[in-house]
Amino acid sequence: MQTIRTECLSCQKCPLHETRTNVVFGRGNEKASLLFVGEAPGANEDATGEPFVGAAGKLLDQYLEAVGLSREDYYIANILKCRPPQNRDPNPEEIAVCTPFLDRQIEAIAPKLIVCLGRIAAMRLIREDFRITREHGQVFEKDGRRILAVYHPAALLRDPHKKEDMFLDFLKIKKLLEE
Ligand code: URA
Repeated sequence: MQTIRTECLSCQKCPLHETRTNVVFGRGNEKASLLFVGEAPGANEDATGEPFVGAAGKLLDQYLEAVGLSREDYYIANILKCRPPQNRDPNPEEIAVCTPFLDRQIEAIAPKLIVCLGRIAAMRLIREDFRITREHGQVFEKDGRRILAVYHPAALLRDPHKKEDMFLDFLKIKKLLEE
């Protein structure tokens, strides 16, 4: 993992390296059975170099705590390691050049379960035409690993009605890990 991190921190493969403050590589237990994958760093993550430290991250922490998952239980990373200006959606070229880092992280961690946080991660890791509203919480099998998607925590901040579904999906995650 250290080799991947070192390469990633000096990456200049796409124009986002010109506007980033920090590369946000990922954090957590590199031997965990659970890997969360978000979309891309926001302003707080860009400033600190840590994933999910802003408002969305704080909300995510509440779900983790609610089902009894601690920091030791997971690793968390993003599809893109650098912040897109104004938090716009990652574009296909950025995703194409950046995701080899994530693919290598997945290989190194070898998680039992991958949880996509939101549509962008699900479209890259599960299926191009993934529909988050319809398919969140459903378990898929990809490359011999279980994978599912939940709403992006930022979506819950915009639409609190989704919170109930999110909680149920987190209970499912906990159950899958215990199997
Ligand atoms: N949103 C994401 O998708 N990732 C982060 O690291 C922060 C916010």
